[in-house]
Amino acid sequence: MTHSTVGIIGAGAMGSGIAQVAAQAGWNVVLMDQSNDVLTHSSAALAKVCNRLVEKGRITADESVALQLRIDRTTEIQKLSSCILVIEAIVENVTVKQKVFASLENVVSNACLIATNTSSLSVTGLASSLQHPERFLGLHFFNPAPLMQLVEVVPAMQTDLRHVPRCIEWMGQWGKTPVQTKDTPGFIVNRLARPFYGEALRIVEEELATTLEVDAAMKAIGFRMGPFELMDLIGNDINYAVTVSVFEAFYFDPRYRPSLIQKQHVEAGWLGRKSGRGYYRYDGAPVASSAPNAMKDPEWIQHRIVSMLINEAVDALSLGIATAVDLELAMTRGVNYPKGLLAWANEWGVETVLEHLQGLQERYGEDRYRPAPLLRDMAANNQSFNVEQE
Ligand code: NAI
Repeated sequence: MTHSTVGIIGAGAMGSGIAQVAAQAGWNVVLMDQSNDVLTHSSAALAKVCNRLVEKGRITADESVALQLRIDRTTEIQKLSSCILVIEAIVENVTVKQKVFASLENVVSNACLIATNTSSLSVTGLASSLQHPERFLGLHFFNPAPLMQLVEVVPAMQTDLRHVPRCIEWMGQWGKTPVQTKDTPGFIVNRLARPFYGEALRIVEEELATTLEVDAAMKAIGFRMGPFELMDLIGNDINYAVTVSVFEAFYFDPRYRPSLIQKQHVEAGWLGRKSGRGYYRYDGAPVASSAPNAMKDPEWIQHRIVSMLINEAVDALSLGIATAVDLELAMTRGVNYPKGLLAWANEWGVETVLEHLQGLQERYGEDRYRPAPLLRDMAANNQSFNVEQE
C-alpha cells in the first residue's frame, strides 16, 4: 500500500515523536525545522530508539532502516508541498505560529489539512489567521508521543467538521486513541486533571497531610504516581505554567487557582527530577523527615481529590466538551487513571460524590467547591452515568 505524506513542522520533543509515530505506521514524513542542528539531533535520537526496538525484537533490522528512510528532514517549508496533512509542533507562541501558517498556506494545496499540536493556545484563535481556516484543527499529542496513546482532536469554531472523521481515522491508523473535544482551555486532559494537583497542593499547604501521605493515599486507590511525584516528573515549572494558563483562560475561576507552594518551588528552582529537587530530593541528599502529625486519614484525602476530579468531568460533560466515552478514554489512556472519572462516580454513587463536595463547600465557603449542576440533578434523580459506547 502506498502511504500518504504528512508534514511536521518543528523537530523538537513533540515533532520528532510524532514523526516517529507516523513513520512507524508506514506514512512518509517530511520533518521540517528552522535549525539544522535540531534536525541532526532528531535523526540521531531516532536511530537510537530504532536500535533499541531491534534489540528488543519489536522490529526487524530491515524495518528499522525502512522506518528511518521514510522521514525526510529539511529546513525548507517548500518541501511540504505534497502533504495531505501538516502538523505544527513549534514554540508555543501565537505570533510565531501564525507566521509559519501564512508561509505554509502559500506552499500546500487547498486540500491539505493543517493541524496544531498546541497545548494551551486557542485553536480558534490560531485558525483566524489562515486564508482557509476551515481546514485547520488541533491534534494534541502527549509527551512522549510514541508511548502515549491519546490524541485530542480539536476542531476550531471555523473548522469544516467533515474533516474531523478523516483525522480521527488517520490517528487510528497511527495506532493512537483519538478523542474529540471542544476547543476550550486545557481541552480534556489538562482541564480534568487540574484538581489532582490543585487539591493535593491545598491539602499540603493547609498542613492537613504531608506530600508523602497524599501520594501514598492516591497510589492506594490505583494511581500509578502520587500528585507530588508526578509534578516532580513533569516539572513544577511546566505544571505551574499549565495551571496558570487554564486559570487565566477561565477568567480566574477559583476552581483552577494556582498554588503559592508550587509558585515558590518554581522560584526556588526546585523544579523536580530535572533540577535534582522538587517536593522530593533526587540529588542523593537525605530526605527531610516530614511532619508526622497529619490530621486527615487517607480516605478523606482520596474523597477530596477524586470528588473534585469527578466534578470537573461532570462539568465538562454537561458543557458538551466531549462525550462520556471520550472523557473516560482521555483520562484512562491519556494520563493512565485507574478508571474513568464518571465510572468512578457511578461506583461511589453520585449522591456520595455530591456529599463530599458539599462538605468541602461548607468547610471552605468557596465557589471552588461548587458541585456541577448536572451532578445535583443526577443525585436528585438517583441516576448514574452511561459510560458505554452506544
Ligand atoms: P521544542 O522546543 O522541543 O521544539 C520546538 C521546535 O520548533 C524547535 O526544534 C525549534 O527549532 C522549532 N521551531 C521554532 N520556530 C520555528 C519556525 N518558525 N519554523 C520551524 N521550526 C521552528 O518544543 P516541544 O516541547 O516539542 O513543543 C512543541 C509544541 O507542542 C508546542 O506548541 C507545545 O505547546 C506542544 N506540546 C508540547 C508538549 C510537551 O510536553 N513538550 C505536549 C503536548 C504539546
